[in-house]
Amino acid sequence: MIKNALQAEETELVPSEPIAPDEHIAPAPRISIQAFCDTVETAAAVQAAGDDRRLAKAHLKLQMGGVTAAVEAYRSSPTPNVVLLECETRGLDILTGLDQLAEVCDAGTRVLVVGRVNDVVLYRELVRRGVSDYLIAPVSTIDVVRSVCGLFTSTTDAKPLGRIIAVVGAKGGVGASTIAHNIAWAIAGDLEMDAVVTDLDLPFGTAGLDYNQDPSQSIADAVFSPDRVDTNFIDRLLSKCTDHLSLLAAPATLERVYDFASESFEAIFDSLRSSIPCVVLDVPHQWTGWTRRTLISADDILVVAAPDLANLRNSKNLVDLLRAARPNDHRPYYCLNQVGVPKRPEIKVADFAKALDDEPIASIAFEPQLFGTAANNGQMIAEISASHKTAESFRLMAQILTGRAESKRQRRGLLSPLLAKLSKRQA
Ligand SMILES: Nc1ncnc2c1ncn2[C@@H]1O[C@H](COP(=O)(O)OP(=O)(O)OP(=O)(O)O)[C@@H](O)[C@H]1O
Ligand SMILES: [Mg+2]
Repeated sequence: MIKNALQAEETELVPSEPIAPDEHIAPAPRISIQAFCDTVETAAAVQAAGDDRRLAKAHLKLQMGGVTAAVEAYRSSPTPNVVLLECETRGLDILTGLDQLAEVCDAGTRVLVVGRVNDVVLYRELVRRGVSDYLIAPVSTIDVVRSVCGLFTSTTDAKPLGRIIAVVGAKGGVGASTIAHNIAWAIAGDLEMDAVVTDLDLPFGTAGLDYNQDPSQSIADAVFSPDRVDTNFIDRLLSKCTDHLSLLAAPATLERVYDFASESFEAIFDSLRSSIPCVVLDVPHQWTGWTRRTLISADDILVVAAPDLANLRNSKNLVDLLRAARPNDHRPYYCLNQVGVPKRPEIKVADFAKALDDEPIASIAFEPQLFGTAANNGQMIAEISASHKTAESFRLMAQILTGRAESKRQRRGLLSPLLAKLSKRQA
């Protein structure tokens, strides 16, 4: 019934702004949420939040009727992990409803309230009654996502969960792995964040070669023994590259074939992000259930493209699909690589930017001497020449992907209202 009401309502009143690049909302665990809304607008925001990737594991049930319906419902059935209540009425009426709810609410259920009143007295009373969060309507989708996920990460003893950055090539061989490894190196070395590179190209991955590591264990030990996966087990599979950088290598052997179900890597990622602030995934250029899922559920995505037509088409398809699947997230970033191969005709950066409606975060030149030396020596570009322009690009991308810097596009976005004001004044 609610679904029908929502479909009838064509416009969502509070457009959901994608989250800011420096904000990181960790996904919620497998919880049950029941929402009792009073208005169609809030119901729409809650429904869309239920579809957000961060609530993919949560189970959301939504109905109308506000606190009255909630009290009625829980007289006869147990309360879920989270109850979200909307209260349209002004004044302190909501407190009466909450007191009634308290009588039927199981201990351990967290309550979120959406209300219209912005008042410190009310807020204090809500806190006194154990309400976990109070959102002032109108609420957007991301407000709801943030609030629900915040319930499970804001406790002081829990460490904030790590950020997952997925790097994928728009075509094979465009340098996606090289770029992923160099960015992770900059995250660990320059930003001094603990990072782990996870090589998901199980048969052919090169992360071990690139970091000059030959670990005896690999991600295969985890993905083929799902029952053993926990933080301690995964920790033992990591090999340490530098103070802040570890590697979860690919087996890079062909004895087995590597066909995986969509959710095969999920427990490994959860385990990694629970102990490491930054997880860089080297995602092979494939389109399977698990690669698709890995990209959609990452916190940030970098698509690496070489400047030709097939890369342009594939980048556009990837970006379009990922944007549609992640409406409350920052759009995928992209960079160009292997730009300026002698005598090779190229599609210009400006044409890429026009087709993707976005500027690349970097454009990296084709430098066979530099990259070839690095690859054959098992070194990073910054180890060969820290001051090289390419090393600088990797540092910048590391900042953008960890939310430590604004990309050019965002900076322009910040300036544009100012520019608009100025031009109005001059007119
Ligand atoms: N800017 C560059 N200039 C010159 N060579 C480069 C550049 N970037 C990457 N390379 C080289 O291109 C080759 C392919 O790189 P890489 O393995 O990182 O690509 P990939 O996209 O991960 O490939 P795959 O599809 O096999 O996973 C490597 O030999 C690498 O050293
Ligand atoms: Mg690769």
